[in-house]
Amino acid sequence: MKRAERAGCPVLVLTVDLPAGRNTETEARFAKNDTRQCANCHQPGWAGILRRKPMFDGLDLNGVSFSFPGLTWEFVRRLKDTTKMKLVLKGIETREDAALCVQHGVDGIIVSNHGGRAQEGGRATIECLPEVVDAVQGKMPVLVDGGVRQSTDVFKALALGAKGVGIGRPYIWGLAAFGRPGVDRVLDLLTRELTLMMRHAGVTSVGKLDRTFIIDGRRS
Ligand SMILES: Cc1cc2nc3c(=O)[nH]c(=O)nc-3n(C[C@H](O)[C@H](O)[C@H](O)COP(=O)(O)O)c2cc1C
Repeated sequence: MKRAERAGCPVLVLTVDLPAGRNTETEARFAKNDTRQCANCHQPGWAGILRRKPMFDGLDLNGVSFSFPGLTWEFVRRLKDTTKMKLVLKGIETREDAALCVQHGVDGIIVSNHGGRAQEGGRATIECLPEVVDAVQGKMPVLVDGGVRQSTDVFKALALGAKGVGIGRPYIWGLAAFGRPGVDRVLDLLTRELTLMMRHAGVTSVGKLDRTFIIDGRRS
């Protein structure tokens, strides 16, 4: 955290939606047919994977795990008190947790379910978004990610009160297929589609989007 702060990073994002590991059935099934030897390139465990990333240079990674079942609101408060960076919680899905974010001085929320990678039996994030937006009552920005594949998804998220959206896999697909130009292309497509969608809806600025553009929003 201190290194990020010194490097001028303005915001710290704490992911809270993967506290207890996960059951990756598909990966486990395919692993049986994979004859490659991971240990030829990587040391086992998270420490081995993380050690390859320069941002972790100089840190003691022994015993490090991405799963953190001991996470508490007290820890969130301590983080907040320890750093000058803004603190954003990624992985909030309910009005109750959103209200706790307000209570504990969190600066922003990303409504997320880790792209369904922690578990995928719950609600889609777009369904969780309205209650989170309502619960924070404008006290902090709310963003959303998960399943954003084209700009109709962006349009709906903004109309439901998100200040912005995140994309995970689409830019990775672009990167895997064409490298950096592939990422540029994904972003370009999303931007152009959003302009198109806004023209279809007759709206001239994203600031003018609201829930009346969504059927459920018109009913309420
Ligand atoms: C390969 C992969 C690795 C990810 N690793 C992390 C991670 O380390 N931390 C995190 O907060 N989210 C992680 N995510 C979740 C993304 O940040 C994001 O929430 C999710 O991909 C959004 O959904 P989308 O892929 O449908 O756009 C990962 C996602 C993917 C696909």
